[in-house]
Amino acid sequence: MSDKLIIFDTTLRDGEQSPGASMTRDEKVRIAKALERMRVDIIEAGFPVASPGDFESVQAVAEAVKDSRVCALARALDKDIDRAGEALRGANAARIHTFIATSPIHMQMKLRMSPDQVVEQAVKAVKRARQYVDDVEFSPEDAGRSEIDFLCRIIEAVINAGARTVNIPDTVGYNLPHQFGSLIRTLRERVPNAGKVVFSVHCHNDLGLAVANSLSAVLNGARQVECTINGLGERAGNAALEEIVMAVHTRQDIFSCKTDIDTTQIVPCSRLVSGITGFAVQPNKAIVGANAFAHESGIHQDGVLKSRETYEIMRAQDVGWTANRMVLGKHSGRNAFRTRLQEIGITLGSDEDVNAAFARFKELADKKHEIYDEDLQALVTDANLAAENERIKLMYLKASSETGEMPAADVTLWIDGEEKKATARGDGPVDAVFRAIELLVASGTQLTLYSVNAITSGTDSQGEVTVRVEKGGRIVNGQGADTDIVIASAKAYINGLNKIIAPEQRAHPQL
Ligand code: KIV
Ligand code: ZN
Repeated sequence: MSDKLIIFDTTLRDGEQSPGASMTRDEKVRIAKALERMRVDIIEAGFPVASPGDFESVQAVAEAVKDSRVCALARALDKDIDRAGEALRGANAARIHTFIATSPIHMQMKLRMSPDQVVEQAVKAVKRARQYVDDVEFSPEDAGRSEIDFLCRIIEAVINAGARTVNIPDTVGYNLPHQFGSLIRTLRERVPNAGKVVFSVHCHNDLGLAVANSLSAVLNGARQVECTINGLGERAGNAALEEIVMAVHTRQDIFSCKTDIDTTQIVPCSRLVSGITGFAVQPNKAIVGANAFAHESGIHQDGVLKSRETYEIMRAQDVGWTANRMVLGKHSGRNAFRTRLQEIGITLGSDEDVNAAFARFKELADKKHEIYDEDLQALVTDANLAAENERIKLMYLKASSETGEMPAADVTLWIDGEEKKATARGDGPVDAVFRAIELLVASGTQLTLYSVNAITSGTDSQGEVTVRVEKGGRIVNGQGADTDIVIASAKAYINGLNKIIAPEQRAHPQL
């Protein structure tokens, strides 16, 4: 008999802690719906006490998602737990995840609390969370560097207080696989009431071992893994969901457990998260990288043609790779457009949203004859961005480059309801456009990343541009897509500026 391995996705919470990966409420709902379609068991939707925006996002996800359990994070503090409980009120199935640090360094330097005080606060937090929901998860933060006797003591106490899941985080990604696996085994053996809870793990990737550590924990009895799409997350990220799921799926000879994940949703979900956050997926990334199923060497190609299994341990279509397929064209109607969006998991709310997106689709179809799923995804992301961030809008853009001449750009923006124009020269047309925009906005931001990706193949492909801008320690990403990469660049820059000028006050869960 094979056990169930619970997949707990924290893309919307820990994933969002990657600098620049912040998402709007609507973007979070779209990702949550994609995770639900993928049959993720638990979606950690955010940290409600962090800001009113975070609270509303958790609330919106709790209301939108029906099939997955929705979880909210809370420090072991009354105010955090109360906010989490309130945010989850509309959920079909809810969980509160509360945590407090247990390593000597965190207790002494960060919390300035004694071990006894930490146990007391953890127990109080679990009991308070149980007043809101039956399903409470407890994490001893930095468990990977905590003392085993103390871990056993606090875990026994929180189980008695009503925790149903005990999550063991390797918060700083310090553990090695054999060591982390044996930690899980020891806890399961030594904590007297361990049999009453599910043991979970939450591994960070600072040494590139998050997936290996999580899988080692599964081999030692963990039955929930916390992970993120594309391995997004604080610093070097969390364990990548797609790698955990496909390792367990592919090596059923080794694992005595199974997930309920619909693996064909993995690639679409990876694309959605990468498009929304602006975090590109490296080409050689396992499962979801563009080269993950590409065979370059002649010997490999020959082998795969004779028998796929010679060099492939998984089938590309099983994880959702499809050949670029022309799905719509210039003559496609509104219904075909809406239906295809639904098929790839995008539901536009109102008729107005559909009309706006359809108008953009027609514009794109005039420039580009064959429209692929990837184009639709970018088009809708782009339409959402434009609708949500209204303080600065692009009205007009002309950029010129000529051999022997310095490139120049004329830009007209709509800023807080006023039309403003500027002309600038730069090292290239994109540089000229950015300079003109900065003349008008005077944002004082620093551009720290600029990248262009072709959404599909061919020279008529849309270019998808990601920029990262920074001001006073705050970092945001901006995205834009267009068949003209100079326009895509302007859209991305404006998107980033719109985000950075929006006021944000947000607490970090681990400070
Ligand atoms: O890394 C960590 O310890 C966390 C906890 C909140 C589980 O993200
Ligand atoms: Zn974490």
